[in-house]
Amino acid sequence: MVCTVLMGTQWGDEGKGKITDILAENVDAVVRYQGGNNAGHTIVVGGRTFKLHIVPSGVIREKMMAVIGDGCVVDPWILKKELDYLQDANIFTGNVVISDRAHLILPYHRELDGLQESVKAEGKKVGTTRRGIGPCYEDKAARVGIRVGDLRYPDLLREKVVNGTNSAILAAGSLGTDLDLDPDSIYNDLIEVGNSILQYARDTPLLLTGLMENGKDILLEGAQGTFLDIDRGTYPFVTSSSCTAGYASAGSGIGPLDIDKVVGVVKAYTTRVGEGPFPTELKNNIGDMIQKRGHEFGTTTERPRRCGWLDLVMVRSSVAWNSITDLALTKIDVLSGIDPLMVCTEYRIPQDEAELHGLGTTMRYFPSHLELLSKAIPVYIKVHGWKDMTDDDWDLVRDDGNLPKRVMDYIRLIEREVNANISILSYGKGREQTMDLGGDLI
Ligand code: IMP
Repeated sequence: MVCTVLMGTQWGDEGKGKITDILAENVDAVVRYQGGNNAGHTIVVGGRTFKLHIVPSGVIREKMMAVIGDGCVVDPWILKKELDYLQDANIFTGNVVISDRAHLILPYHRELDGLQESVKAEGKKVGTTRRGIGPCYEDKAARVGIRVGDLRYPDLLREKVVNGTNSAILAAGSLGTDLDLDPDSIYNDLIEVGNSILQYARDTPLLLTGLMENGKDILLEGAQGTFLDIDRGTYPFVTSSSCTAGYASAGSGIGPLDIDKVVGVVKAYTTRVGEGPFPTELKNNIGDMIQKRGHEFGTTTERPRRCGWLDLVMVRSSVAWNSITDLALTKIDVLSGIDPLMVCTEYRIPQDEAELHGLGTTMRYFPSHLELLSKAIPVYIKVHGWKDMTDDDWDLVRDDGNLPKRVMDYIRLIEREVNANISILSYGKGREQTMDLGGDLI
């Protein structure tokens, strides 16, 4: 039995979907443990592209058990749409399992998400995906949420839907908006969609314990990334769940000591969707080039992603906070043609801010407060790029397994600076554009 966590080391969009699909080849179950359909995971197999938001990426592998765990929030209408989409594409969904304990995103959560954003002043907006994620987790923490398992009890469900809708109408009123929501029609729609998803609902920790007792291998698939985590991230410009490896245990029901490996996915540069400080952001033609070449537009919202140099202060912090055993470096091919490349290895902060926080003026780990982060000046190492390398050259790399020295130097620099090995290198969307650099993962 091997249990592996896969999670993002940056601000999400690191290419986790593809690496999940690669690692899923050798496991029996893939489990999402947090987040909802704010995530967007793209998998390209044999020229076919699949975009998934809530069903774990492992579903593309035949016979794979694909589990939506306790820590997730599920929009049942989106889930049904995604299951229909997979079935239409001839992907087997009979092994999809949804936790009884996962919370349901209802229409009023979506409405409130949009409203809460719209009343915030410019510069204070989080830039959420408006999928209702925050309000649903708010209800969970306030202990008034509705869980998948409640679908089995129509009377209890009706009571919760009526209460939830009325509270949302009150909350909207306090934000100056009359929400035209009818609890009865929400309840009726929920019963209808519930009938088609309830067949997938199980007590998933029980199921996972059984799998482990039978020696099965499990992959826990994180969504978003370390710096969108509600505690570790750039609060308040974060999502409302815990995206770090520690929550893989809580959100799945697998005990922490049963986790053997933590794979951190790191993109060869940095991107961010939505608002918030971004020390290595490139607001110039290099940033534009990376955005274009890397197709850096959101899978969920299609918003352009902000792009910048690789920030190893972030990755180093991620490695430490998540007990990362292996890194998977993605999208290295996107940097072809850019020379020189800059890599941030530490931040300099002004003396007065350093004193305020009881720190030195050099930071090698990510700051705890946005005010401090906004004053951080990145310190860069300048490295040679692989500027003459074409897509055809990358295809040759696949055949002969030889990486150009300058690519290898970039890899070694990252490994040295963050103190973790890069075990997987991804240089394209396809499964075949992946190289095993050791570490026994693939
Ligand atoms: P929410 O998760 O929709 O509440 O959005 C909160 C913040 O997280 C926003 O800045 C979003 O852009 C960001 N976010 C949420 N999910 C993802 C993701 O999967 N990739 C990248 N950013 C995300």
